[in-house]
Amino acid sequence: MAPTATRAVLFGISQNNACFVGPISLISKDFMTTTVEQPTSAWIPGPILGIETSCDETAASVLAEDGAVLSNIITSQHAVHQRFGGVVPELASRAHIESIENVSAEALHQAGLAWTNLTGIAVTQGPGLAGALLVGVNYAKALAYALNIPMVGVSHLEGHIASAWLQDPAFPLPCVVLVVSGGHTHLYYKEPSGHCRLLGSTRDDAAGEAFDKGAQLLGLEYPGGPAIDRLARQGNPDTITFPRSYLKKGSLDFSFSGVKTALLYTLQAIPEQFRTARAADFAASYQEAIVAVLVDKAFAAVRSSGAHALAVVGGVSANSRLRALLQQRAASEDLRLSLPPLAYCTDNAAMIAAAGRQALCAGLRAPLDIDAQATLASPFAQAI
Ligand code: KG4
Ligand code: ZN
Repeated sequence: MAPTATRAVLFGISQNNACFVGPISLISKDFMTTTVEQPTSAWIPGPILGIETSCDETAASVLAEDGAVLSNIITSQHAVHQRFGGVVPELASRAHIESIENVSAEALHQAGLAWTNLTGIAVTQGPGLAGALLVGVNYAKALAYALNIPMVGVSHLEGHIASAWLQDPAFPLPCVVLVVSGGHTHLYYKEPSGHCRLLGSTRDDAAGEAFDKGAQLLGLEYPGGPAIDRLARQGNPDTITFPRSYLKKGSLDFSFSGVKTALLYTLQAIPEQFRTARAADFAASYQEAIVAVLVDKAFAAVRSSGAHALAVVGGVSANSRLRALLQQRAASEDLRLSLPPLAYCTDNAAMIAAAGRQALCAGLRAPLDIDAQATLASPFAQAI
């Protein structure tokens, strides 16, 4: 259980759960009445807690003083949203409220630490679902206040990028980073200073969105990416050549709306029983069209930027076919590749703690009146 003062602050403003799913301004205004100055002395590295609630996973993780992951707890809400075929924001907020305290306590427990051992807190500030983010941000504020330790707000994208170094701390810079998730398909050049320069991004759907929408068309369950991945293992990827959108020569931008429409038209053109019988072949062919473009563009970015290392992060980097193609190509081109373990691909709090740890080391801190930012634009604008 969280420290008493935390519970007092948290539940003092949110006794009525409806408050959390009500208008954002109401929640923020209530909370900001408790704004308190944070400690101002330099941060002395020690265990930190990461918190992630941007979408449909409630996650907490503890990193040790040296950045090693001591625990990484993730409670998925898939069962809550499955029957709706996608995330229902209000239900997500409620589920986060119900789990956040237990998930955080379990992260502490598995790390073998007490609340008072924590020296900092990192929380996802955005982008994401406003109500979902608010739960994590307010919980982090309450904890920071109760424990009198610094906190930082972290961009979810920055967290995904940091995940490339969790298992592989010696992964070199400069490198190219491909972030492929439900909301993003972004290619960055990460300079030796750590600064990220955008090389390209999707002009329409994100790769994860293409997986999720494709799965819906194929009648598969939510979330669609893992469902297509599983089914595709039994199918033939050469059954149908779906369009691969490379855009104009040299472009590092992506477009996945065409392949989705092609799947729709293909399925509409064939009888129902054939659709079901060949579902694995369609899934494999559709998946192949998405991952081929991701791999080609990532390696094109490496070539054009002169980098010698590539990191691929985000939920879609859990895809088994994408991982296999990336590994083959990296081996044949003698390229250093960072592909985080599956637990660090999809949303997790270890990556948020890792990005937060860098921010704390750099002397950044958030005031206790920071707000969730659903549309946080730049992944590198520390909300401090
Ligand atoms: O990073 P993430 O957990 O959340 C966001 O930041 O969006 O990514 C979720 C996305 C979803 O679109 C999901 O379908 C996709 O990642 N995904 C996958 C796989 N596992 C998750 N896509 C393809 N293959 C997978 N194995
Ligand atoms: Zn994510």
